[in-house]
Amino acid sequence: MANLDFQHLVPAYIQTFEAYYPSLPDQELMVTYGVDHLHRLNNNENALGPPPKAAEIVDEFPPRMVPEYPNGDCFYLRHKLAEKFNKEPEQFLVGNGSCEVIGSVIKAFCEEGDNIITADKTFAVYEWVAEFSGFEARLIPLKDHAFDHRAMLDAMDERTKILFVCNPNNPTGTYWDKETMNAFLDEVDNRAIVVIDEAYCEYVEQEDYPNGMELMERYPNVIVFRTFSKMYALAALRIGYLCGTNEIVDIVRRTHIVYSVNTLAQRAAVAALSNDSPFIEATRAMIRDAKKLVTATCESLGLEYICGEGSYIMIKVPMPDTLMYRKLMKKGVMVRTMTGFRFPNWIRVSLVQQPVMEIFCQAFTEVIEGR
Ligand SMILES: Cc1ncc(COP(=O)(O)O)c(C=O)c1O
Repeated sequence: MANLDFQHLVPAYIQTFEAYYPSLPDQELMVTYGVDHLHRLNNNENALGPPPKAAEIVDEFPPRMVPEYPNGDCFYLRHKLAEKFNKEPEQFLVGNGSCEVIGSVIKAFCEEGDNIITADKTFAVYEWVAEFSGFEARLIPLKDHAFDHRAMLDAMDERTKILFVCNPNNPTGTYWDKETMNAFLDEVDNRAIVVIDEAYCEYVEQEDYPNGMELMERYPNVIVFRTFSKMYALAALRIGYLCGTNEIVDIVRRTHIVYSVNTLAQRAAVAALSNDSPFIEATRAMIRDAKKLVTATCESLGLEYICGEGSYIMIKVPMPDTLMYRKLMKKGVMVRTMTGFRFPNWIRVSLVQQPVMEIFCQAFTEVIEGR
């Protein structure tokens, strides 16, 4: 049998693209590291969740719904979002995680020869989707751990279709305040789409944090991404969305896969949005406490850290991040290595309840002290 001619079949940008391999299931990792429990501090999951009303929906999901296709475009959730944000249901597109809508936006606006602009040290999926789709991703170095708006503007040309701004940034927790965001959007001046990824917006308590949902009323080129994976703790159900003007969403809808969001996710998301303030407040309180504990531990160990907005902290470690990961895994604690985010020798730690944070601080201190 003749071999497949991959040279001929596979586009050059796929031939050179390096696949991302997700980590093994916890069960497998526990066997490998000889532990009977793993504290998951690697994916910024909300350890409190899901919110009670959403948990009820999950508990009571009727098996008779399983043979039926979900609603194809998340009708009730879009109506719920419209009511919550004072917009029209047509302004929302819901995806299988907000990761899916990244693909829809890039497909809608980019064609051969186009580029997108984002940061070098941010959520990598914007870069990946652009590159495996054959478009250039211009990666602008962070400045003082934050997106550099001046350098992003300077990198724009007539083939720039989308600028992705992660606000607050994963993994540094830095954010553009209202003034910076307005100045940036004024200068972009509708020449390109600006995606503001607000995956962690519900964690931000600062007064000067801009709300993308309001910005799009003044700047028609703004698209906001949000997710139910972080604050609302529905990561396993894979559900996120974008919001934009009717005109923009009408364009993006053409490239968006319908039926990609399952019924349980749609129902749980609607429930999660009902009376969400107490849940959000409880989560924020948990994060505040966790930040105090972990930053105090870093300071007592004399380690540099970056702790901004969001549900995570980054710590610079005096060894390769992969070695730190393995040493912590042997103690039942899973963190995120940051070499993949272009931060070699840093780890990112999700902030969760006090008892688990204490376990992390203890294990981390032991590793640093060589125990
Ligand atoms: C900044 C940012 N955007 C988007 C996502 C993707 O979220 P989802 O689970 O909705 O695909 C993440 C998840 O880590 C993230 O950190």
